[in-house]
Amino acid sequence: MGVTRAIYPGSFDPLTLGHLDVIERARAMFPDLIVAIASNEPKGPLFTAAERAALIREALPANSTVRVEVFDGLLVEFARQQETFVVIRGLRAISDFEFEFQMALMNRRLEPRLETVFLTPQEEFTFLSSRIVKEVARLGGDVTPFVPTHVTAALRNKFGKT
Ligand code: PNS
Repeated sequence: MGVTRAIYPGSFDPLTLGHLDVIERARAMFPDLIVAIASNEPKGPLFTAAERAALIREALPANSTVRVEVFDGLLVEFARQQETFVVIRGLRAISDFEFEFQMALMNRRLEPRLETVFLTPQEEFTFLSSRIVKEVARLGGDVTPFVPTHVTAALRNKFGKT
């Protein structure tokens, strides 16, 4: 029996269509997929971990088998708790590579059983990031092509735009 379980970790602040594309691709390979939201990230998230989790759950079909969890501390600790040692990361462009490579090797040094699998999102999402979506939304731009409808609404709510 091959590996069926994987963790897709991230900040997801907030979920974009690029993330959803990676979730779909990952789920096709690993039926038992955990989307893991890092709660204590140093970037100072716009949405609380609970809000980020709710936005992801709402984007998934009602009968989805994907689990959405929040974790604190090291990803390798969470992986051990879940006994799941495949980590999925989306790789959009060369600019992602250096950080992702560093993270994959550090994670494997901390937990030798851990393997990182990189998936490439659909081309139309390769320029997308939560950071840029937040900036466009904050300045009143239209983010509807980049995030699910309910995420657009949540962003409008945060930035006090109607
Ligand atoms: O969506 P992001 O911000 O690119 O995700 C980065 C994330 C959350 C996967 C990474 O920062 C992480 O794993 N954080 C948990 C703390 C940890 O394990 N840090 C060491 C990574 S080498």
